[in-house]
Amino acid sequence: MTASRPTRILAVSGSLRAGSHNTLLLRAAQKFNPGGQEIEIYEHLREIPPYDRDVDTPELRPAVVTELRRLVREADGLLIATPEYNYSIPGVLKNALDWLSTDWTKTEGLPLHRKPVAILGAAPTNFGTVRAQLALRQVFVWTDSDVVVKPEVQVFRSHERFDADGTLHDEMTIELLQGLLSALQAKIDAKSAAASAVGSAA
Ligand code: FNR
Repeated sequence: MTASRPTRILAVSGSLRAGSHNTLLLRAAQKFNPGGQEIEIYEHLREIPPYDRDVDTPELRPAVVTELRRLVREADGLLIATPEYNYSIPGVLKNALDWLSTDWTKTEGLPLHRKPVAILGAAPTNFGTVRAQLALRQVFVWTDSDVVVKPEVQVFRSHERFDADGTLHDEMTIELLQGLLSALQAKIDAKSAAASAVGSAA
């Protein structure tokens, strides 16, 4: 790690459900991260209003959106756990990402632009979140985010992988999760090294 402070990662679960396996995966990321990462789980997804271009300006944006944009801007990277709804990502997650993809006044910068992102997901079905994760990758094409490609963490039959208290006990999933966090860290370190090189050349 090149930064002297811990890496700040903002984690977002696309499921609002209290016992969500996707949210439990993010808790597991907090517990099993390879070290040097502070992982904050975003708690306000249900409060994000539907995207409205008419109020998508620094002055008019809802306060909860302004705060989310700040959190994303200040995070070194994002970790997004998505369930699969109808072969895609949940509307609440897509809606939040829409609010994070704009800068109509060209004064603020784009919160997701070149942001290092890692994605993962859990579902009780045999196919995990394969299609939802592909749909999520497509979103990050428009935003030009720096998405980890491998490892893919598709937690199928998710109900078999957690204890009754919600602790992830499946060794293979823990290993994949740690690999994903290490790959995200590598992207964050590369971005930070590139910024330092530009700074010292100036
Ligand atoms: C689903 N589910 C689902 N599963 C799947 O494998 N493919 C799908 O297309 C869908 N579609 C779908 C639509 C809607 C509206 C719901 C509510 C659910 C099942 C879904 O993936 C499952 O409930 C996940 O476990 C939800 O994740 P959490 O809440 O445990 O994080």
